[in-house]
Amino acid sequence: MSNFIKHQNWRYATKKFDASKKISEHDLEILKEAIRLSSSSYGLQPYKVIIVENPELRAKIQPVAWGQTQITEASHLFVFANMVNLGGKEIDKYIANIAETRGIPAENLAGYGDFMKSKIISLPENVKNNWTSKQTYLALGNLLNAAAELQIDATPMEGFETEKVNEILGLDALGLNASLIATVGYRHEEDTTQHNVKVRKSKKELFINL
Ligand SMILES: Cc1cc2nc3c(=O)[nH]c(=O)nc-3n(C[C@H](O)[C@H](O)[C@H](O)COP(=O)(O)O)c2cc1C
Repeated sequence: MSNFIKHQNWRYATKKFDASKKISEHDLEILKEAIRLSSSSYGLQPYKVIIVENPELRAKIQPVAWGQTQITEASHLFVFANMVNLGGKEIDKYIANIAETRGIPAENLAGYGDFMKSKIISLPENVKNNWTSKQTYLALGNLLNAAAELQIDATPMEGFETEKVNEILGLDALGLNASLIATVGYRHEEDTTQHNVKVRKSKKELFINL
């Protein structure tokens, strides 16, 4: 069986973490690199990822995250925050990054920059924000997969009040919005969820062959 599939069967959305176990700096860097390498539309990566270890901040987030215990008991909290009302400046920064990374004169990339701006800038703000938020799901997927390979547990979470998390982490002032949270650490041996058989649609139901 492929290792990837083995890891997918091993992982589960952990409900109870062992608060005494912390992720090593080495593994944390691998998880960050997996997020950094995630694919995104145009390659814009229109989000930031806030890694919260601070127990006071996590204690404040827990009640606005459906009281979920993973928020305070996991080793680390990753908050995926999409950029709000993405503008031309971010696209210019991306073009400058391509130019520097690949040694291409920025003028040669102006057409690509203008193309992205023509597609993105004039979109209604709510559409733009929805689109930047969608990009965070790809980064979350990479985090979950990388964690599974390292036998690190993770829980993806949408169960929180966005505005309140934005307020607690000061995200509004940074032009960011909490799109997703992932709690990451090590499963508690008492977490009975780990023994549940995976429930998934059959291939017959999920796929359409044409
Ligand atoms: C975007 C997203 C949001 C989720 N939000 C929560 C959440 O807030 N709390 C939680 O315990 N699980 C959450 N889950 C976990 C799902 O319920 C879980 O992934 C699903 O039931 C499949 O089970 P498995 O991941 O254990 O295989 C979320 C999953 C995803 C992908």
